[in-house]
Amino acid sequence: MTEEIIVPEKGTSKKEKYDLLIPQIRALVEGEDDLIAGVSNILAALKEGMGFLWTGVYFVKENKKGEKELVLGPFQGPVACSRIQYGKGVCGAGWKEKKIIIVPDVDKFPGHIACSSLSRSEIVLPVFKNNEVAMIFDIDSGQLSTFDDTDSKYLGEIVQLMEGLLK
Ligand code: SME
Repeated sequence: MTEEIIVPEKGTSKKEKYDLLIPQIRALVEGEDDLIAGVSNILAALKEGMGFLWTGVYFVKENKKGEKELVLGPFQGPVACSRIQYGKGVCGAGWKEKKIIIVPDVDKFPGHIACSSLSRSEIVLPVFKNNEVAMIFDIDSGQLSTFDDTDSKYLGEIVQLMEGLLK
């Protein structure tokens, strides 16, 4: 396993950045079967390599009242809210709707939970275990309209890596 990644140069296209990073991320988690170790390195490599504001995951967990909610897991970036209820914010919506949600302008998403005032756009991807959402993979950008179908495609490959670690 390598412990350093080659970071894309400034000015490279988004596709070129992902094409450089994803094989390195695969190498980084190859042979690692611990969820937290694997996910933590994936998030660090993505934040550093893509220049995102925040990369992180929330786990679906049961609280003391027996209700399921999202609880903050490994992340890179500014401090974040530690719990999110079902259907709330972009993360809760991704959990409820079981689909990828792209938000070009967080100020225009009703109910958006602002963890950092620097966040301008966001993508949320559900991560499944036994056909149930087990984790929410969340990325924030400091610029508007950062995420599109290219991100869904490449980050979908990252979701598959995370799903492998959840088994
Ligand atoms: N903005 C998210 C909350 C999590 S932070 O962005 C890290 C939301 O609306 O669910």
